Amino acid sequence: MAYIYSEVSRTFSEYLLIPNLTTENCTPDKIDLATPLVKYNKGEESSLKLNIPIVSAIMQSVSNDTLAIALARCGGLSFIYGSQSIESQSEMVRRVKKYKSGFVVSDSNLTVNSTLKNVIDLKNKTGHSTIAITDDGTSSGKLLGLVTTRDYRISRDPLDKKVQDFMTPFSKLVVGKLGISLSEANDIIWEHKLNCLPIVDENQRLHYLVFRKDYDDHKQNPYELLDNNKRLVVGAGINSRDYEERVPALVDAGVDVLCIDSSDGYSVWQKKTLEYIKSNYNIPVGAGNVVDREGFLYLAEAGADFVKVGIGGGSICITREQKGIGRGQATAVIEVAQARNEYFEKTGVYIPICSDGGIVHDYHIVLALAMGADFVMMGRYFARFDESPTKKVKSGNGYVKEYWGEGSNRARNWQRYDLGENQNMKFEEGVDSYVPYAGKLRDNLETTLNKIKAAMSSCGSATIRELQETARLTVVSSTSIIEGGAHDVILKEKEY
Ligand code: IMP
Repeated sequence: MAYIYSEVSRTFSEYLLIPNLTTENCTPDKIDLATPLVKYNKGEESSLKLNIPIVSAIMQSVSNDTLAIALARCGGLSFIYGSQSIESQSEMVRRVKKYKSGFVVSDSNLTVNSTLKNVIDLKNKTGHSTIAITDDGTSSGKLLGLVTTRDYRISRDPLDKKVQDFMTPFSKLVVGKLGISLSEANDIIWEHKLNCLPIVDENQRLHYLVFRKDYDDHKQNPYELLDNNKRLVVGAGINSRDYEERVPALVDAGVDVLCIDSSDGYSVWQKKTLEYIKSNYNIPVGAGNVVDREGFLYLAEAGADFVKVGIGGGSICITREQKGIGRGQATAVIEVAQARNEYFEKTGVYIPICSDGGIVHDYHIVLALAMGADFVMMGRYFARFDESPTKKVKSGNGYVKEYWGEGSNRARNWQRYDLGENQNMKFEEGVDSYVPYAGKLRDNLETTLNKIKAAMSSCGSATIRELQETARLTVVSSTSIIEGGAHDVILKEKEY
């Protein structure tokens, strides 16, 4: 007879945290959100840590290079999506690794033959008012001049006026030499009262622009996640089919960590993929997704550096409806965390686990951590921000952004749902949707982190490890969930 679990499968919203004693040692300003990303031996430190316990989902609609840069600058990490060609995924990784805080690759470029109309159109498109004028109109061409809003007057100048007639020519520009540090660039910016300093090489080719405002911005990045060479840290998703070609290309591009992306990771293909990578490369690899101790132990024994937990809980996910496979996210995390702790006791190897999918409220992150997760992966959360790769669409009085699942017909990521058959998707396991637009990643993440710190402070925990060891959780009844929101009052309309 089939095995029937006696325990009900529960989700985050069915739990609350009970406060522990808060002391001077765990006020929000003292809380350390650092957490291990990859496995380590007892008594040692993880060789790769996150500064905040948050990573972004391996999805086309979430994790491209732009989001990866924004998130790493705030202390988290993105896994660049694998459902694209090996070349374009590697290129995204390369762009993150090349990114230098404060050194921006110019995204608005024209040639001397462009017109004022081209300038205005480009400014409207990118929102940026500094335009580099290069010999070939690219971000890496020979720099011939710069155009800013100070160089033209829309009310007086004809729209067909040529850029060469109003740009500030190279001979009048102050430029920095390739290789100078950010603080040297900043000194030049201050000395010459500039807003923007182009950085060029010995052949006058443009490499970066350094803006005055970005220098201040950089100073406000205490959590920035950097490798030993001061480059941003980035991950990439892979599958259990083309890893022999994809992994070397990603390693060559400088990726820091990989993750095998599958809706059901308790499979021999994940083991084979892990074995191949472990015997050929020196790069950490996470595996998943699993929802129980058996799945965890299988991937742990196969060599996974972290294990991702969750099936069917993602906001765009319809796996449970389509296949009847899955488990309440809270129950899955609790069981896998227990298995992980026992594995640690037995072997002395600590394997971090990631709670993937189904985070709806910020407090769900704290619950996941308290239940034993070392970090969480989110898709919907990040899809709402300016930095996600998807289209922003007007809706009523506001805006929404597109967000689609990897198992939707739009993404057609058959490798993620592949169970060893032919290369196609027989049915969808995800939907195509919209999420409310929420603005900049940094602003939203800051609020989220403040909430996490406040909750940890209430739980008397200054670190995630302490939270995992001392948190007390209670299951709530459906009526007490109603009690948790505003109730029995007539809400006033918000004034903005
Ligand atoms: P969210 O944060 O609740 O939106 O969940 C994101 C997670 O859903 C991802 O990290 C994946 O694990 C999972 N996921 C992504 N695309 C699909 C899909 O099409 N079907 C099922 N799960 C998906």
